[in-house]
Amino acid sequence: MAYGRIPREFIDELLIRADVVDVINARVPLKKKGREYTACCPFHNEKTPSFTVSPNKQFYHCFGCGVHGSAISFLMEYEHLEFVEAIESLAESLGITVPREAGGKAPNKEQQQRSKDLFTLLQDASEFYQLQLKGSDKAVNYLKGRDLSGEVSKRFGIGYSPAGWDNLYKPFLKNYPEQQLVDSGLVIKNDDDPNNIKTYDRYRDRIMFPIRNRKGQTIGFGGRVLGDDLPKYINSPETSVFHKGSELYGFYEARMHTKNLDRIVVVEGYMDVIALAQFGVSYAVATLGTATTQDHIKQLFRAVPEVIFCFDGDRAGREAAWRALENALPVMQDGKEIKFLFLPDGEDPDTQVRKVGQEAFEASFDEALSLTGYFSENLHDRFNITSDEGKSRFIQEASKLLHKMPDTLIKDQLVSRLAKQTNIDERTLLKRISQPESNYQNNQQSSYPSEPYFDEHFEPSRSVSRLSNREVRQTPIRYAISLLLSKPDLVQFVENIEQIVLSKLPGSDLLTTLIETLQESPNINAAALLERWRNTEFEAPLILLMKWQPESDDEEVLRCEFEDCLKHIHKRANEIKVESLLHKERTGGLNDQEKQELLFLLQQK
Ligand code: UTP
Ligand code: MN
Repeated sequence: MAYGRIPREFIDELLIRADVVDVINARVPLKKKGREYTACCPFHNEKTPSFTVSPNKQFYHCFGCGVHGSAISFLMEYEHLEFVEAIESLAESLGITVPREAGGKAPNKEQQQRSKDLFTLLQDASEFYQLQLKGSDKAVNYLKGRDLSGEVSKRFGIGYSPAGWDNLYKPFLKNYPEQQLVDSGLVIKNDDDPNNIKTYDRYRDRIMFPIRNRKGQTIGFGGRVLGDDLPKYINSPETSVFHKGSELYGFYEARMHTKNLDRIVVVEGYMDVIALAQFGVSYAVATLGTATTQDHIKQLFRAVPEVIFCFDGDRAGREAAWRALENALPVMQDGKEIKFLFLPDGEDPDTQVRKVGQEAFEASFDEALSLTGYFSENLHDRFNITSDEGKSRFIQEASKLLHKMPDTLIKDQLVSRLAKQTNIDERTLLKRISQPESNYQNNQQSSYPSEPYFDEHFEPSRSVSRLSNREVRQTPIRYAISLLLSKPDLVQFVENIEQIVLSKLPGSDLLTTLIETLQESPNINAAALLERWRNTEFEAPLILLMKWQPESDDEEVLRCEFEDCLKHIHKRANEIKVESLLHKERTGGLNDQEKQELLFLLQQK
């Protein structure tokens, strides 16, 4: 999506005007229950409703599988839309048009026209290559030699780029400006030497695989040599319409083939996708000569609950699988599953499916390693946990990875598995995970007691009912955040934001950012806040706190609780100030003003 940005204010506005209850109710009938609405969760199988929608926060959440989010997220999940598409669909249902940011990278008419022309050009090229294939015995024979059926070749739009330097360039120059041919990646212009500028076809004498986006538009190509020359494959460069990190080869074709996919296999190559499709496994996709990115995994999870990575058993395949796992961790959700299948040495999915057939190939998915299985197996292979040193490195690595994971049941399972594996109790492991950096920096100059100390001093006077089924420790910072999410206008009672910063308590950065945002945009609701911080470090803690629900509705009670939190935070800030003044007194001495301040603070205490 190369078009201009949608202004943030518009997204806020949209989420204030739209009602998440209406959006969901139109698709999944909701029942009112107290202050909230419930239904059986549309994202996992259940008989008793655990899917809850809060009209106040404009947020939905399922205790069963953990899905959650705003009206935008719901449309993305339920209708399998991308972010921008969900916004467009929501806006359309309210009869408003989506504005695009002006100036700078604006999506002006000219640019829109240009990418439209680029799609036309690439489609023309794809048809050109398919036509050339028909006329080339050599290319047809190559495909026959690889046992590709005519049906599947057609489904994937396979073509052939003839040998020679300008077979495409020359005729296409009649319909398209040279610059556009270069922009499409199909033509290379080498202008290093002004006396000898060469312009020529990128793809020559190669089998051509068109790469299509989710709408089916051709956005690039992969080209394979017919023999053993190198490089074996050439892929289109990144262009304004082709971004390798967010495209998956075969995704469009898989969706076209099966309306409701329930799983997807990720493989390494073009030929793997096509051979699997020919043998009835029509739900394979491949990354385009890159690692599997977070974006890839998010898209896959929006389409299906189960993703199987099927890679070669060799070192490169194992490395690719581990990279995929690393990128999957931050986007894991309950109700979604990833698995890893390693093929026997020397086989890839193309050769394997031809050897064993569809049924046996699909049966092997049942034996694939689970996320937890592969995670612990890989670490076990890399570190020798029989030695103390090996064990500590194992834990260090595991903590670093787990730290990136949102709170999910899968994470709990992983923790308990790793705890058993290393014989370390779960609480110790969890503590490590919450502060993985502390393993590296042992020169922390401060001696502030950290969170646990704080807990002893804070017992929320009135307890909150947790929407989450996971135990999350209550702290004044967390409580203050959850109160603000429930009732944003509490922000008016914040008098001294510096104190919060000064307290250095975990989460104070999120709380201060939240306060600043609410002061700037007083009408914003919780769902809009969530959208602002989509894909940032604040997203996960915010979602967690979004699920907390104050027990009381009473404004006065909420205000008291909020002020209680602030008091605790201020107290902590004062303690820190005292500590630092005392430290200074011992080391360098205090000036008069500082002395007075210290005295004042000590008296307050
Ligand atoms: P492989 O070398 O495993 O090739 O590369 P393959 O898919 O089995 O192809 P065949 O069966 O020999 O035809 C796997 C993938 O890595 C990327 C391509 O996307 C390829 O499909 N690749 C490989 C490149 O981008 N460039 C290369 O030179 C080689
Ligand atoms: Mn192969």
